[in-house]
Amino acid sequence: MTTVTENRLAELKKKLESREARIGIVGMGYVGLPLALLFSSERFHVTGFDIEARKVNTLNSGGSYIVRILPASIQEAQKAGFRATSNYTEISQMDAVIICVPTPLNEHHEPDLSYVTGTVESLAPYIHEGQLIVLESTTYPGTTEELVVPILEKGNLFGLKVARTLDDSGIHVVFSPEREDPGNDSVARHDIPKVVGGCGPAASQLAAVLYGSIFRRVVPVSSPSVAEMTKLLENIYRCVNIALVNELKQLCMRMGIDIHEVIDAAKTKPFGFQAFYPGPGLGGHCIPIDPFYLSWKAKEFDFQTRFIELAGEVNLHMPYFVIEQTAAGLNDQCKSLKGSKVLVLGLAYKRDIDDLRESPSLTIIELLREKGALVFYNDPYFPTVGHGRHYDLNMTSTPLDNLGQYDAVVIVTDHSDYDYKAIVEQSKLVIDTRNATKGIQSPKIVHC
Ligand SMILES: NC(=O)c1ccc[n+]([C@@H]2O[C@H](COP(=O)([O-])OP(=O)(O)OC[C@H]3O[C@@H](n4cnc5c(N)ncnc54)[C@H](O)[C@@H]3O)[C@@H](O)[C@H]2O)c1
Repeated sequence: MTTVTENRLAELKKKLESREARIGIVGMGYVGLPLALLFSSERFHVTGFDIEARKVNTLNSGGSYIVRILPASIQEAQKAGFRATSNYTEISQMDAVIICVPTPLNEHHEPDLSYVTGTVESLAPYIHEGQLIVLESTTYPGTTEELVVPILEKGNLFGLKVARTLDDSGIHVVFSPEREDPGNDSVARHDIPKVVGGCGPAASQLAAVLYGSIFRRVVPVSSPSVAEMTKLLENIYRCVNIALVNELKQLCMRMGIDIHEVIDAAKTKPFGFQAFYPGPGLGGHCIPIDPFYLSWKAKEFDFQTRFIELAGEVNLHMPYFVIEQTAAGLNDQCKSLKGSKVLVLGLAYKRDIDDLRESPSLTIIELLREKGALVFYNDPYFPTVGHGRHYDLNMTSTPLDNLGQYDAVVIVTDHSDYDYKAIVEQSKLVIDTRNATKGIQSPKIVHC
């Protein structure tokens, strides 16, 4: 006799193979939109859900609001049936729903799960038996079981429960972390293995079938908590190692050693070492934020995550270090920060992307202003910058000409379009926080 799950699996497999399966992706941002395009490129019928009408309208008119995603890609997806909506009633037509909404920190540096809970509350009334619900937003271990499952069970209209055994009917709930790395084209998206942890064996198997149709390798783990923790381990590993090189950079500077030369030499070791690079501080939606999801949760277990706290302390200090080095560079030219004209090169949190969330350049600009400098910026990805959750700048990108008018040029983001040789030649003083001027010899450069 076949179990409920075997029937359900066979049905979903058939629907996936024939491309009849309808996939809903909630949150059309940096994670959700590329995922929607990936499913669409495999001829799946995808509906993108977002609460921002501007995004929905742009997508439905074949446009894009993310620089590296071309309108042509959206139009190609539309041919496969892709469309966007803010109407949650359409959730009922989906076979699988994947949630990719933000998970920021609140003003007290604690997890803000309001987007996740708000989304799940909105979609719960429209879910149906046998549906697969996947959370991809990065979060602390326990979120899927402790927050998502109760809302789904309470909010659905059919009294459905989450399927825990192979014989259970009900809803199938999974956590599957996103491993998107914007701007990194070294690995094709479908070659990045996909971790899935279901609330029951059926959920894991269904998710493996779903993701197996777009990713070459699916890695099932025993529970959502393991999958949630896997993502945090990956990001904490980066955060701690970046803090380590940021600290060693400061020591190396005092010792007159070039940290970048050291890293280049160390990475020739074919085992046991992975290169991380120092910089002006952490940025982006993940590395500066995710570790604090775990340190917050750890307190519930009377546990202090000391590596996370220490790494946070070192990394948070880096923009202040950049200010100190800029002041020292100006001092060597008998100038002070107060009254100096300073150009910040690059706003994005990393090279060649249009994302400035948590970018260290925002802090650096504010600190320079506090010290009395006249601050300008240039970034080809941001013609203007207004205000956000943690900044209020209201500035316009200045053209990259007449660099001699600035007392200092601070390279915060090493976009590849910049001509660093010309920048050094034309500037009076260059503070290079990214080793962007590697190979250029000039007394005007301060590496920091
Ligand atoms: N950006 C990355 O590189 C990256 C990488 C890995 C993991 N993540 C994680 O993925 C998640 C999403 O990140 P992102 O960068 O895509 O965020 P984002 O801000 O770019 O996109 C989130 C989208 O969700 C929409 N949204 C918010 N509430 C909604 C709701 N109730 N219903 C429908 N839509 C809603 C927003 O309008 C926005 O378009 C986060 O948990 C993040 O930590 C991000």
